[in-house]
Amino acid sequence: MKEYKSLVFDYNNMMKDFVGEKEGFSEKELKNNFDIAVNAHKTFEENRGLNMLGWTELPYNQKGIVKHIKTVAKRIRKADAFVVLGIGGSALGTNALFKSLCHLHHNELKKSKRKAPKLYVEDNIDPVRMKELLDVLDLDKTIFNVISKSGSTSETMSQFLIIYKMLKDLYGENAKDHIIATTDEKNGNLIKIAKEEDLETFFIPDGVGGRFSVISPVGLLPAAVLGIDINELLKGCIHMDKMCRKPNLKNPALIFGLLQYLSMQKGKNISVIMPYSDNLKLIADWYCQLWAESLGKKLDLKNNIVHTGQTPVGALGVTDQHSQIQLYTEGPFDKVITLIGVKNFKETVEIPHMFSEYPSVNFLSGNTLNDLITNERIATEYALTKNQRLNNSIVLEEINAHTIGQLLMFFMIQTAYVGAMLNIDTFNQPGVEEGKNATYALFGRKGYESKLEELKSAKQKSDKYII
Ligand code: PA5
Repeated sequence: MKEYKSLVFDYNNMMKDFVGEKEGFSEKELKNNFDIAVNAHKTFEENRGLNMLGWTELPYNQKGIVKHIKTVAKRIRKADAFVVLGIGGSALGTNALFKSLCHLHHNELKKSKRKAPKLYVEDNIDPVRMKELLDVLDLDKTIFNVISKSGSTSETMSQFLIIYKMLKDLYGENAKDHIIATTDEKNGNLIKIAKEEDLETFFIPDGVGGRFSVISPVGLLPAAVLGIDINELLKGCIHMDKMCRKPNLKNPALIFGLLQYLSMQKGKNISVIMPYSDNLKLIADWYCQLWAESLGKKLDLKNNIVHTGQTPVGALGVTDQHSQIQLYTEGPFDKVITLIGVKNFKETVEIPHMFSEYPSVNFLSGNTLNDLITNERIATEYALTKNQRLNNSIVLEEINAHTIGQLLMFFMIQTAYVGAMLNIDTFNQPGVEEGKNATYALFGRKGYESKLEELKSAKQKSDKYII
């Protein structure tokens, strides 16, 4: 049987021994607060598979779905392009899988090399983006996957209307062959339209919110179309899930969660996630949504006003060493920085011997870019620690479907733990409703008349503050 290496979570640099008395945590402090972690773990385990924790079972309960996804994906793989129409949790997971597990220039490769369609994830409604996407697509050879759990997200549904009208005008009855819908089985408009139009449809199961849906058909279908081994991805999730079954010091998501929670109590309001790998860049974006939308809440479960949350920031190593690290090493003590490293990159690039007369250039010769990126990560970790900055690191043995599954599950479980520690609803997003409703009102949508009145009677902007 294949042996899998677990990701390694290293929190030395969160401890007093390393970052000093003032900033760091002592073992005693962790021990004294450990019941917070134990309670969060208990809440998580007791609710596993229930309510909005339905996603915890996705690695285990999708055998039939995975089979169906693979059959459909095999057909789609012949297409020239696969376009995801979705936003937020319906797009970010696919982006993360695409970037981490495919060639970094997948779309530019010849079809014979990429062996899969080009992928476009359209998660904005910028009119220029829509027009210019259409400039590069050959609609004859393109399949669109419209993804919306609610089936009513304005951005996604407007994209769908534009594309479907175009397809209908071109192909009439056959337009449906170019569209796959991924949505809730019972609720929302998209499922109704999908039924009326007889679209191929995948369902987002109950208890799976957008930002926890990457391992449902939302992320699995595009991944399978790209040729990613989705069985391995799910096995990686199971591997991590098993590591998190006990409330002890060996549960990496629980320790990381507790440290983040305690850091928040000490005013560390920013969580920086900094992978040292271009492949992992969009995992950082996915994490940012997961962390922000899940933990940024006004009310706790008892309706007390708490205004919790930690602002997530994505950074890329080494690129952002030349942009953000100055702030992280010398600016305010308000961050926890998580570096993500890769032990074995899939490629090795040697730095040639040249210009021996210039020692400040020549010292690089004979090494590899692999050594350089790894040493720069270690050096950054050292510099942060020397400046008493709370930091920790996650190291993947290599990037493959299994380790990415581990990483995604690690962050999702950790987020659920921290939500439980904060005693908030991790799975809702009431803060985005106000803006959505105001948009509906501005469009004159039926049922939003009083919201429009409210908008009209809102304080008008003053010219004196406009230059
Ligand atoms: O995490 C979430 O729930 C959100 O970010 C949603 O994914 C996003 O708003 C899109 O929603 P829907 O899939 O219903 O179109």
